[in-house]
Amino acid sequence: MKNNMTVSGHSSRPAKASAAVRIFIAAAAVSMLAVLMPMKAWSQPPLYQKCLLCHGRPGFKKILPDGKVLELFVNKAELEHSIHAKLHCTDCHADVMEIPHMKVPGTVNCYRCHYKDNPNGAKPANEFFQSVHGKLDEQGDPKAPRCQNCHGGHNVQKVDSPLSTVSHLNVAYTCGKCHKPQYDNYVQSIHGTALLDRHIKSAPTCTTCHGKHLILKPDSPDSTIYPLNVINVCSKCHENKELIRKYNIPGGRISTYKESYHGIADEFGSVRVANCSSCHRAHLILPESDPRSSINKANLAKTCGKCHKDANVNFTKGKIHVNYKSKSNGILYYIGMFFEILTISTLTLLFIHILLDLFRRFKSGETKGKNKRGE
Ligand code: HEC
Ligand code: HEC
Ligand code: HEC
Ligand code: HEC
Ligand code: HEC
Ligand code: HEC
Ligand code: HEC
Ligand code: HEC
Ligand code: HEC
Repeated sequence: MKNNMTVSGHSSRPAKASAAVRIFIAAAAVSMLAVLMPMKAWSQPPLYQKCLLCHGRPGFKKILPDGKVLELFVNKAELEHSIHAKLHCTDCHADVMEIPHMKVPGTVNCYRCHYKDNPNGAKPANEFFQSVHGKLDEQGDPKAPRCQNCHGGHNVQKVDSPLSTVSHLNVAYTCGKCHKPQYDNYVQSIHGTALLDRHIKSAPTCTTCHGKHLILKPDSPDSTIYPLNVINVCSKCHENKELIRKYNIPGGRISTYKESYHGIADEFGSVRVANCSSCHRAHLILPESDPRSSINKANLAKTCGKCHKDANVNFTKGKIHVNYKSKSNGILYYIGMFFEILTISTLTLLFIHILLDLFRRFKSGETKGKNKRGE
């Protein structure tokens, strides 16, 4: 720059011309390269291309000794549409040092970047490490889910994208790969069919009840599904008046439970009494009218029988969620009403009695006072 400032106006013209020529040549070179190479490839590091020489070939696979097929083809488009589009293959496959690979590459360790407490860039998943899954992984259990089992390997998406393997609609399928019995029950349940078949987004999926990373065993007191905590999970929606009205769900179930024998004992910390899922089940929750439902009249003796050894049909009679304030409860309504009237009239009589008594005392006190002044 300094040179340019000092050169005379005479010599500056050829300098400008040569700059223009250089720019032209550079531009031409760039455009020629652009024509020769697809745009995407231009933006990718050369190593990426090297890996894809072999792994980019459709049908590239290896037959393992046990006869299973190991797919070695990598779908480039999948990676390019993922949140990690800018990463190199070896950012994840850090152990691939040479080609051909002298050692079979191991499993990918996502914590390399998403490490605990990472302040910027790759968000951490701190709570995962305290979960039943994280603890299992720490012990080196091969069955434990690692980040990629839930989020995917080459197709990782932002978690709020509908394409994500952990989106509200997809996460049940993802968990279900390892928890088949729960998944099979859930997809038949009122909640599963509401979400997956009828697209009612306010219906729960696995992570609504279990949490996203901090998934714990049912017998851990910090777990969302610990017997004393289940009521909080169900209340989130079943106490929501708007939701109840919108989907025509029978309401008042939380308050009536709290007033029931079980509910009161639950409040006092009993984990043996029935909570919502003891009677409704956790995953195969169905309306009363469904013959498969645990609360269908035909199955109720069995449901109560889990804890009440001699429960028979008679034992289960009378509704469980009793709202004495609803006329539809027939005799119970009138009994409730009778006791309510009895209580109110007793209290009223008592009140009148106290008033009269006070009045009497006041009067006699007043005469006493008069007497005093008169003395
Ligand atoms: C010359 C062809 C070739 C090139 C280039 C190549 N690979 Fe491989 N790759 C293979 C073969 C063959 C295997 C199977 C190795 C085996 O199991 O013995 C393999 C296996 C792998 C595996 C393990 C798959 C599994 O689940 O066991 C990974 C990961 C991998 N390659 C990543 C890469 C990366 C990253 C690059 C670029 C740095 C790369 N490869 C370049 C041929 C190649
Ligand atoms: C975001 C991290 C990430 C990036 C980037 C990535 N991979 Fe992978 N790759 C994985 C994960 C996770 C798996 C699943 C196996 C595992 O858990 O280790 C995998 C599996 C593979 C496999 C085994 C076959 C399969 O599809 O399961 C090959 C081969 C492979 N990757 C090659 C590549 C190549 C080549 C690139 C670059 C073009 C690449 N990977 C980029 C994370 C990554
Ligand atoms: C058992 C399945 C599962 C495993 C294993 C798992 N995640 Fe997640 N992850 C989820 C779910 C579910 C969400 C939340 C999705 C939502 O918000 O709807 C999530 C969210 C995230 C987010 C978004 C930020 C946040 O905290 O909501 C990041 C980043 C993430 N996970 C990274 C990881 C990493 C890194 C690992 C491994 C250490 C991992 N996850 C292991 C299921 C899992
Ligand atoms: C080389 C570092 C690196 C590795 C290795 C890596 N990630 Fe990431 N990851 C990132 C960065 C950086 C972002 C943020 C990208 C952005 O926001 O554009 C990210 C974003 C994510 C997100 C989206 C979080 C959100 O906010 O919704 C998830 C989920 C995720 N990664 C999971 C994984 C999984 C699973 C693996 C292992 C297969 C992995 N990552 C490996 C760097 C990495
Ligand atoms: C890769 C397989 C895998 C995936 C995916 C997975 N889990 Fe697990 N999960 C396990 C294993 C293994 C255990 C420990 C099994 C055991 O102790 O019975 C476990 C334990 C659990 C437990 C405690 C069970 C108990 O009886 O103590 C719950 C709850 C759970 N997982 C929920 C989920 C949810 C919700 C998801 C999805 C967000 C999920 N899991 C995804 C493998 C997986
Ligand atoms: C409506 C809330 C709810 C939903 C949705 C839900 N769970 Fe559960 N889950 C529970 C409750 C409550 C328990 C505890 C049951 C008990 O103590 O017997 C439980 C227990 C479990 C257990 C421990 C073993 C067992 O069966 O008792 C696993 C594993 C599990 N759930 C996985 C899943 C998976 C996978 C999904 C999604 C397909 C899912 N759950 C959906 C509430 C739910
Ligand atoms: C995220 C919100 C949400 C949570 C949490 C939830 N539910 Fe539901 N539940 C719904 C919705 C929405 C419906 C109605 C679905 C429909 O219209 O088909 C429903 C329906 C039901 C029904 C059938 C009602 C009928 O219409 O006959 C029962 C029983 C039920 N839930 C019990 C439970 C129990 C027990 C729990 C806790 C273990 C629970 N729910 C947790 C949202 C929720
Ligand atoms: C002791 C067993 C038991 C417990 C505990 C229990 N329920 Fe129920 N629930 C039933 C029975 C039986 C019915 C059917 C009769 C009725 O509607 O009262 C029912 C009905 C329901 C319904 C209406 C379903 C329909 O199809 O009519 C909902 C919603 C519901 N319960 C939610 C809950 C919630 C939420 C909890 C926990 C706060 C809970 N229940 C606790 C036994 C129980
Ligand atoms: C998860 C176990 C469990 C389930 C399921 C269960 N209960 Fe209970 N219930 C208890 C316990 C524990 C007590 C307290 C008994 C005691 O202290 O002796 C109790 C007490 C009661 C009581 C008051 C005390 C008594 O023994 O008469 C009634 C009434 C009752 N249950 C009815 C039912 C009905 C009806 C069902 C089925 C719809 C049911 N219970 C399902 C555990 C359960």
